[in-house]
Amino acid sequence: MKNILVTGGAGFIGSNFVKYLLQNFDYNVINFDKLTYAGNLENLTDIEKDPRYTFFKGDICSEQDVEKALTENKVDTIVNFAAESHVDRSILGPKEFIVTNVIGTQVLLEAARKLGIEKYLQVSTDEVYGSLPEDKPELLFTEKTPITTNSPYSASKASADLLVNAYYHTFKMPVLTTRCSNNYGPYQFPEKLIPLMIAKAVDGQKLPVYGDGKNVRDWLYVEDHCSAICEVLHKGKIGEVYNIGGNNEWYNIDIVKIILKILGKGEDHITYVKDRPGHDRRYAIDSSKIMKELGWAPKYQFDGGIEKTIKWYVENENWWRRIMKGEYLNYFEKNYSNKM
Ligand SMILES: NC(=O)c1ccc[n+]([C@@H]2O[C@H](COP(=O)([O-])OP(=O)(O)OC[C@H]3O[C@@H](n4cnc5c(N)ncnc54)[C@H](O)[C@@H]3O)[C@@H](O)[C@H]2O)c1
Repeated sequence: MKNILVTGGAGFIGSNFVKYLLQNFDYNVINFDKLTYAGNLENLTDIEKDPRYTFFKGDICSEQDVEKALTENKVDTIVNFAAESHVDRSILGPKEFIVTNVIGTQVLLEAARKLGIEKYLQVSTDEVYGSLPEDKPELLFTEKTPITTNSPYSASKASADLLVNAYYHTFKMPVLTTRCSNNYGPYQFPEKLIPLMIAKAVDGQKLPVYGDGKNVRDWLYVEDHCSAICEVLHKGKIGEVYNIGGNNEWYNIDIVKIILKILGKGEDHITYVKDRPGHDRRYAIDSSKIMKELGWAPKYQFDGGIEKTIKWYVENENWWRRIMKGEYLNYFEKNYSNKM
């Protein structure tokens, strides 16, 4: 059986990915996470007793932590989700983004090289391609679109991608890179657009929308991102980049209106706030390479996916309220600290 190290497995996509792997494949899964504010072990309570699952508290920037986790668990595959991921936070404090997203990736790559890891997959983002013009809807990001970064977050992710590419060319490392559009679904930290708006709407508060609300994003249900990563991991060509997206572009304001409508609240809850500096106008991704070459296709349509997502946040109110109160931070101390 393969031993796969999933970094950032206590975050939004990472925790969905850990569960997706355990449900669909026979892997031993080692979740390697520093448990920053975004890491929440309560995302994983339903699988934490699975004998194929191990949690390792560690920092991808620490050579010692990384090498210990890789050797102790005889890891042969790494999937790197660990990152600082919130653009607004990268504007308030870019340094942490460079440390985790760039240095952390280099530490992982170096350890993987030293220990002869069989496959390394870097989870990246469509944000590395910059912004598309609004008046040219036919333009999409392809894998050949030049990297043009406009936020400290996207600059740090692009830098990591370039390092992955350098390790492939220089050291012939068996690497793969995926670049996905915006994800939505269960367990997303309630600072991000969709869960934040749901939480505000449930509480009858004002829903803050940046600028004119006309920024366009492509949205993909998180399980579809997980299935795409697995296709790339199992069938992708070493050294290649694969775009992943839902062919599903929406104005931010329309997403907010859909949430209000499904929750039976009026549009008078919307309030426009000062735009984010350097806010990219439009992202849209061409996923034809992964679809044609690896046979991947998303399973969820947006209307079904968003309804399922809203239902999940309504039924799991306790999950996001515990985050808002900071109570989730005690979970590690209570359940793990005496076992490590
Ligand atoms: N959310 C999206 O829409 C989206 C889209 C495309 C790509 N991505 C990429 O996917 C990955 C996961 O995104 P997410 O939204 O799940 O992020 P998230 O912020 O929810 O989770 C990040 C996880 O990484 C962990 N982490 C942070 N620094 C660490 C460190 N130094 N060492 C070990 N663990 C650390 C955190 O504790 C957390 O569990 C990121 O690399 C992000 O760039 C996200």
